[in-house]
Amino acid sequence: MPFAHIRGTGSAVPERVLDNAELEKIVDTTDEWITRRTGIKQRRIAMGDNNESTAALGTRAARGAMEMAGIAADQIDTIIMATITADRIFPSAACMVQKELEAFNAAAYDISAGCSGFLYALESGNNSIKSGMSRTCLIIGAERLSAIVNWEDRGTCVLLGDGAGAVILRRQDEPGGLLSTHIKSDGRLWDLLYSDKGNAPAPESLAGLVGIPFHLKMEGNRLFKQAVPCMASIAEKALEQNGLSREDIQLVIPHQANLRILQAVSEKLKIPMEKFFTNLQHYGNTSAASIPLAMDEAHRQGRIKSGDCVLLVSFGAGLTWGAAVLKWTL
Ligand code: UT7
Repeated sequence: MPFAHIRGTGSAVPERVLDNAELEKIVDTTDEWITRRTGIKQRRIAMGDNNESTAALGTRAARGAMEMAGIAADQIDTIIMATITADRIFPSAACMVQKELEAFNAAAYDISAGCSGFLYALESGNNSIKSGMSRTCLIIGAERLSAIVNWEDRGTCVLLGDGAGAVILRRQDEPGGLLSTHIKSDGRLWDLLYSDKGNAPAPESLAGLVGIPFHLKMEGNRLFKQAVPCMASIAEKALEQNGLSREDIQLVIPHQANLRILQAVSEKLKIPMEKFFTNLQHYGNTSAASIPLAMDEAHRQGRIKSGDCVLLVSFGAGLTWGAAVLKWTL
């Protein structure tokens, strides 16, 4: 049975930084509240005149991963893009990325699983490699959440940001790489976090954000209560299936929704916070982009070494949640 190894990681974020102080001028909030309740200090916001569409951010992240992996565009068999903010309802953002990369040997498609989208995409890529359908998969998580946020709702707009991350998954015979993936959903609770409209165009400036036809709706408090047990239990299942103890995990790369959620998951799993990689203070919650964006930063900062066991764990709209265990071989 072949193994799917991560051979490269990449990420991209918009240039424009929106910090908590600036948000205080847009909605009735404070840096103190946002920091204490979420850990977030700033987020990135895509601007139309910087060419920062979801597909453009995804393409930049993909190029970083391809360069690290030494993979040319024509070697890619499958492009899977996790996003809830594709630039158009159709075609898929993955096809737009395919065009930019000129990866014309690939099949390209999107996956919508909210903040768990990257883990769903990783599972699809893993299955494609293990079944012999693909040798090289490009897996991307990219979001422009600023397009779907109600910039007059302080309960949600302070939380979210834009960005992208990508990995190259490659078939190898040596054991290692992706050891397992677990994904779960509960559609009964879809109405805790959902969209009711199409996407707004990217504005030329922050002033243009306020009038966009908003549509992201969230019951944050009820989600919080679901997130912690779901993330902890699927992470435990993933460890158990791989015969790993919590001490065997060198790094946890979680979905970056809220520092308090991560602290609660850390307590439940009895894996100390020092082993949790967090960058939500810089980017907020970037939904499907958050895990690959964090993974790329963790790798480039030297936080993951070859041979390390890495646990990925997510939770998001759907509801969806998931976990993956990696033996890092980069
Ligand atoms: O990405 C995956 C899906 N998302 C999640 O998993 C998010 C999970 N939920 C959360 O992270 C937290 O529930 C939030 C950060 C969204 C909210 O934190 P909370 O501690 O659950 O606060 P809350 O919603 O219970 O609100 C507490 C108070 C309320 O005021 P009252 O009713 O107590 O007077 C809110 O109106 O905080 C108020 N509030 C704010 N105040 C200042 C809500 N948002 C803000 C704000 N600034 N931005």
